[in-house]
Amino acid sequence: MSVPIMTLDKVRKSYGDSVAVHSIDLEIAKGEFIALMGPSGCGKTTTLRMLAGLDKPSAGEIRMWSRVMNDVPAWERDTPMVWQSYALFPFLSVLENVEFGLKQRRTTDAVGRRAKAMEWLDRLGIAGMAGRGIDQLSGGQRQRVALARALALEPEVLLLDEPLSALDAHLRVRMQTELARLHGELGITFVYVTHTQSEAFAMANRIVIMSEGRVQQIGTPQDIYRAPATRFVAEFIGASNILSGTLKESGAGGIVIENALGRFRSAGATGIAVGQDAAFVIAADKIALTRAADPAEPGLDAVTGTVAAEEFIGAVVTIHVDLPDGRSMFVQKQQNEVGRLGLARGDEVRLAWHPQDTFVIPG
Ligand SMILES: Nc1ncnc2c1ncn2[C@@H]1O[C@H](COP(=O)(O)OP(=O)(O)O)[C@@H](O)[C@H]1O
Ligand SMILES: [Mg+2]
Repeated sequence: MSVPIMTLDKVRKSYGDSVAVHSIDLEIAKGEFIALMGPSGCGKTTTLRMLAGLDKPSAGEIRMWSRVMNDVPAWERDTPMVWQSYALFPFLSVLENVEFGLKQRRTTDAVGRRAKAMEWLDRLGIAGMAGRGIDQLSGGQRQRVALARALALEPEVLLLDEPLSALDAHLRVRMQTELARLHGELGITFVYVTHTQSEAFAMANRIVIMSEGRVQQIGTPQDIYRAPATRFVAEFIGASNILSGTLKESGAGGIVIENALGRFRSAGATGIAVGQDAAFVIAADKIALTRAADPAEPGLDAVTGTVAAEEFIGAVVTIHVDLPDGRSMFVQKQQNEVGRLGLARGDEVRLAWHPQDTFVIPG
């Protein structure tokens, strides 16, 4: 990566004795769409507020390009923030709300401000509402005003804190598409906080998964889906088929674990000692599904179980399979592929995979 537009260098934030963010290292490239994702309370908003200049790190450094930003106040930064709650001024009109941010920056005169504000209202499809009061708008329209207000500043980095979570599902998906489009058109760097996996996976170039104030993994959506770095990530994204057991062998060729279902190989390496607990993830899209009575394909590892449920989302079917030890796994297939098998609940099936398509979860 060339010089990142923003760098978090061992950034920490504590409130008295409690630590909200432990020690985050993150480099954000110009133009990226980065999502910070994790459960409520994991430190996402705290991190974003520090990037915005609304909170100061307790330790570490935040840099924009090469400039240390720790002591630069929010209004001197080029990193406005959009909130879930919109944070609009109720006593100002839609147009005045957008003009307000520009006025603070003193970048242009009143005529220029008005033109710029109208341009952005138009771009967000709400130019017709310029004269309305905020209380005359729907939630979706309010969020557009908040976005227009931030984008009218033409910032280098836009910070968004769960901006869509107050919207209903239908609107959320529409705004998601629109945000992704705006990001593509504008070349502005987006740092987007969400606890919703589908949002992060649909829009972000890279996702930072956080838990309890620590970064668990940074990677592309595909990296994270295919190779979760920790058990927390694997479970959080729910994409996981985790097999755990006792580590029986560990060498250059991979590892072998054993549990009540049998012995299973993974091509990955692990720092875990033989005899300890170990686990790996099998990519759900790499698992072959056949009837248990069909001949097994040589070279693959497999478990058998019974079909518990089928879930249809578009052309993809997720089949949940109960295993004899009480655990369950799932596979995802195209509908036509599953249609051929003609499965019903309770049918015996085999799930088989290549050890190359597994990822060892580190210690
Ligand atoms: N101003 C504050 N004073 C004390 N604790 C705070 C403050 N702000 C946040 N926290 C704590 O820091 C942790 C992270 O909070 P936050 O960053 O808001 O999480 P998230 O946005 O991921 O839900 C939480 O435990 C929260 O209670
Ligand atoms: Mg938050």
